[in-house]
Amino acid sequence: MYKVNDDFLWGVATSASQIEGAWKEDGKGMSIADCLRFRPAIDVKDYKKVNEVDTEEIEQALSDTNDKNWAKRYGVDFYHYYKEDIAQLAEMGIKAFRFSIGWTRIFPEGTEDQPNQMGLDYYLELVKELRKYQIEPIVTLSHYDMPLAIVLNSDSWYDRQTIALYEKFATTVIDYLSEYVNYWIPFNEIDSIIRHPFASAGLVKDRFTGKNFEEVIYQSMHHQFIASALVVDYCHKNYPKMQVGCMITKTTIYPYDSHPENILQSMLQMREVYAFSGIQVRGEYPAYLLKKLENEHISLSFSEGDPTFLAENTADFIAFSYYSSVCTAADTTGLKVSLANTTKGVYNKYLQQTDWGWQIDPVGIRISLVELYDRYNKPLFIVENGLGAADQLTKEGRVHDTYRIDYLRQHIQEVLRSVKEDGIELLGYCTWGAMDMISASTNQMSKRYGFLYVDLDDFGNGTFKRYKKDSYFWYQKLLDFDTEIPENFFDK
Ligand code: BG6
Repeated sequence: MYKVNDDFLWGVATSASQIEGAWKEDGKGMSIADCLRFRPAIDVKDYKKVNEVDTEEIEQALSDTNDKNWAKRYGVDFYHYYKEDIAQLAEMGIKAFRFSIGWTRIFPEGTEDQPNQMGLDYYLELVKELRKYQIEPIVTLSHYDMPLAIVLNSDSWYDRQTIALYEKFATTVIDYLSEYVNYWIPFNEIDSIIRHPFASAGLVKDRFTGKNFEEVIYQSMHHQFIASALVVDYCHKNYPKMQVGCMITKTTIYPYDSHPENILQSMLQMREVYAFSGIQVRGEYPAYLLKKLENEHISLSFSEGDPTFLAENTADFIAFSYYSSVCTAADTTGLKVSLANTTKGVYNKYLQQTDWGWQIDPVGIRISLVELYDRYNKPLFIVENGLGAADQLTKEGRVHDTYRIDYLRQHIQEVLRSVKEDGIELLGYCTWGAMDMISASTNQMSKRYGFLYVDLDDFGNGTFKRYKKDSYFWYQKLLDFDTEIPENFFDK
């Protein structure tokens, strides 16, 4: 028998720009996500290109009135479907629902003195709806969709003033939802600024000509750390019941083989992500990051109180996403390439791949739990895990996604084994995907993660109607066990 605590948060996860749509309704402003489109001419496996947005692309987005070209403008219309969706997810048995706040619903341009009341009320209604079913809201404040106006009228997160704009947004939302929300995540996958600086921090490379763009990214990273610490400080001072987590992308990186140089290489690459959790958990920059910056002639500007402020406002828990693992080697020349979440590495011959080339590695999620807990000794929270696949709706309105059930079955079993045997402290587990949604990296609809199929294609055509997939009924059975799950439930 596997056991979890009574308050273990079994749930699902989403983000505003990938589900809500209604991009111009009720006073919402234009967000950076509204400038992202599916570009069929680019290979979706070429992440660097898929994620690249330059000034020209933004200008096209600003002048294009055909919303169908810009997938995150219509999402899966959760803005209007939320009551129906939550009712179906509640029936499936979830105890937690992770979603994010569209910053531009609250402050359309980011700089207004007063918040947009309709935006605040929308999220208040949403959390009340969740509470109606005893579902715990897990709220990400910023998940890849800051106001475009901040990007165009300033240097975005490179500009220290953006911290104050974020602080106003964050504290306004926290106050307004305080009665209903206990768990906050200031930034989704804060380390992703290195991989896709536009989606994570509104940094458009051609707006920084003459500057070292690496330095721009690291300076912006520092500002996001201060912004996260401000959320910790605010919640701890004003709402002691609240917990604030940091969040990283946990793509486990293995050495390609046991050659010591390859083992060292994997440690060095893992550190690049651990730097982000480390700063937020330990409250200081690790020596290896400072050395790297020094060696690369990147100089960060700190304000006087920054080190103390970071040290005094560390995260309460470590949230992470886990989808995949990759290998690495000191010299990767000639080695077969494999993909993972907006990154790539060396192919692992022991693992299968998804349709999008991400390697499927259930044991990797347990390795992640062990690594993170041993390193930080803090509560962990898996806030994303799932399989992107090209599901097919049958004539009878069914989706036989046995591959997704297999993926979840194997990953969740590893999670429960870890809880049982490794002594880790885990607050909850959320799948990525509730209903299908627009892919963050490729802006495709056909890359589906949900338990509820949404009738929509990559170009915005469809009825938006929802259908329960086979995985819906599988997860429902699991959640029915609640805190004690028989081991044979995971037998194939
Ligand atoms: C995570 C992001 O990294 O991966 C999500 O937080 C995203 O926003 C998820 O959707 C899956 O990635 P993708 O690109 O397949 O949607």
